Amino acid sequence: DDNLVILGIETSCDDTAAAVVRSSGEILSQVVASQADLLARYGGVAPKMAEQAHAQVIDQVVQEALDKAQLTEKELTAVAVTIGPGLSLCLRVGVQKARKIAGRLNLPIVGVHHMEAHALVARLVEKKLQFPFLALLISGGHNLLVLARDLGHYIQLGTTVDDAIGEAYDKTAKWLGLDMRRSGGPAIEELAHEGDAEAVKFRVPMKQHKDCNFSYAGLKNQVRLEIEAQNINAEIPISSASSEDRGARANIAASFQRVAVLHLEEKCQRAIEWALKIEPSVKYLVASGGVASNKFVRSRLNQVVERNALQLLCPPPSLCTDNGVMIAWTGVEHFRVGRYDPPPPANEPEDAQ
Ligand code: KG4
Ligand code: ZN
Repeated sequence: DDNLVILGIETSCDDTAAAVVRSSGEILSQVVASQADLLARYGGVAPKMAEQAHAQVIDQVVQEALDKAQLTEKELTAVAVTIGPGLSLCLRVGVQKARKIAGRLNLPIVGVHHMEAHALVARLVEKKLQFPFLALLISGGHNLLVLARDLGHYIQLGTTVDDAIGEAYDKTAKWLGLDMRRSGGPAIEELAHEGDAEAVKFRVPMKQHKDCNFSYAGLKNQVRLEIEAQNINAEIPISSASSEDRGARANIAASFQRVAVLHLEEKCQRAIEWALKIEPSVKYLVASGGVASNKFVRSRLNQVVERNALQLLCPPPSLCTDNGVMIAWTGVEHFRVGRYDPPPPANEPEDAQ
């Protein structure tokens, strides 16, 4: 059996993350520094600021991951790092750090695709998960339905034609005046518990389309218009809203969430039918990415897979949102089959990268 130990580094968006993972699946360490304060202050990710924030903490985050793993640097097998998709300025911070360490320790590098990592981390969580499987990847920037036939062999069954579901959650939260010191998704999920999901009749997107694609821009717009029509003022934070105002916001949150997730359910049903025609041995739907940590999303998807005699596999929330473990694990999967780059030269000048 192989005994690989891989350091994973992730800086594609607003979290700076690193982790050390063994090929047995053991997680030796996991560190995430989030830019929540910046996000709250500016209401979104600004690339230049995000780059500076990554640069400020990357050394510390990686060192902490190595320290917590309690191994000497010589025990590392390789360094895995996200090379895309993401903000290029931010990705560069991670790649430079990875090349510096790999150069110094003479270690191979594995370049990792962020979305592949969201899907493959499910195989760390559940050793029984074999190819082929179906994956729904739902985050702030992506909304994908993928048939994973084998390692590196993926068929995209559907994507978003405009916004991803996480973007719709985040904007809805912002317009409802929710606390943005964390991302919008969890804030909407929490507020929706107080609301009536039937109160506002939002239209389900793309009902007439016979494909597996998604669209959240229209729903986002419906929400914005409803908030305007009800004279809800996002300048007044929900914590200061009257109970009537709070109730109105909760109803919008719940109604939005119901329709946003109904759209996922309909497209997953179609994707399952399609996937089973190509690969009848599919047994699992993997749901991963930040939005898959939502309990309502999980329970509704669970009903869809049960109807189709499949099983739902969601990584725990800490492995659904951006993290270093999924990058390290994807590094393990690729390293095993020889997909890695030779060590970069030691003391490589940064502008040569
Ligand atoms: O995968 P991720 O951490 O980063 C990207 O690759 O984008 O996903 C972040 C997205 C954000 O839009 C955030 O609001 C959403 O995931 N999210 C949630 C929840 N937790 C995070 N959305 C709904 N419910 C949640 N509990
Ligand atoms: Zn992500």
